[in-house]
Amino acid sequence: MPQVEQVEPPPWDGPPLIVVLWGGKGGIGKSTLAFLLAWSLGKVGRTLLLDADPEQKEGNAQELYDLLELPATFDFASEDDPAKLAGLRRARQYRFIVIDNAPHRDREILKTTCDGDLIVVPLPLDYLEARAIMSSIREIVIPTGHPYRVVMSKVDAARKAKAVRTLDTLDLAGIPVFRTHMRELVAHQDAGQMGIPITEGTSKTWHKPGKDALDLADEVLAALGLADRVPRPAWAVEKVPSPRKKTTARTRKAGS
Ligand SMILES: Nc1ncnc2c1ncn2[C@@H]1O[C@H](COP(=O)(O)OP(=O)(O)OP(=O)(O)O)[C@@H](O)[C@H]1O
Ligand SMILES: [Mg+2]
Repeated sequence: MPQVEQVEPPPWDGPPLIVVLWGGKGGIGKSTLAFLLAWSLGKVGRTLLLDADPEQKEGNAQELYDLLELPATFDFASEDDPAKLAGLRRARQYRFIVIDNAPHRDREILKTTCDGDLIVVPLPLDYLEARAIMSSIREIVIPTGHPYRVVMSKVDAARKAKAVRTLDTLDLAGIPVFRTHMRELVAHQDAGQMGIPITEGTSKTWHKPGKDALDLADEVLAALGLADRVPRPAWAVEKVPSPRKKTTARTRKAGS
């Protein structure tokens, strides 16, 4: 298991860039993505993960970090009062603010909380769910006038080719997409639900969601018009050895 790398982003004094996770459906991976994006962006500049979902308290993740005596790469706060959320631009100590929204929030609340620089909409690879999300993009997200991007979430390995085809179709239809998709991995449950940093995860696939998140965060930075790239921790660039394949009579014959 790798060591947690302490990151000390440079101080910032300017209006923050606000990234809003949004999606009309529940359980599509908004909070997981918000957490991972805050974790990645926190390596580039001071970052606040703001939980605007009254049903869930991501702020509790701070307690967990304290308990485990682990350094977090970002700060946490919970706030769902639209009036207070509207004042976020004044939080000049943060370079990035990532807002995690509740599902099914009404248009007015979305308008306030998504006074952002980028709206990120996770899209599952499920025809009916995706159709519902696409219609709420047309009805709710596009009219806000804010830039947005769709990201495919929870893509299981067997359906990777389908995810790529879906992204191409969306692209052709003029829907802005991130090319990085989030693979469906058990390790997400550690990171997203329990607030445990990926580098401390217990799953065998701990490095995969980390890599997806870092690649996605690079695309987020580009979508925000920044030239910065997220510095890669050592484990993200080192090749993780894959389990040795058993040599069978057939593979021995093919190789000889
Ligand atoms: N890429 C992934 N691979 C595997 N599991 C995932 C992935 N992303 C999210 N999950 C799991 O799916 C569940 C729902 O994810 P999450 O809480 O992030 O969704 P949400 O959109 O925030 O849900 P809600 O709308 O209820 O707030 C969680 O158990 C989470 O661990
Ligand atoms: Mg959530």
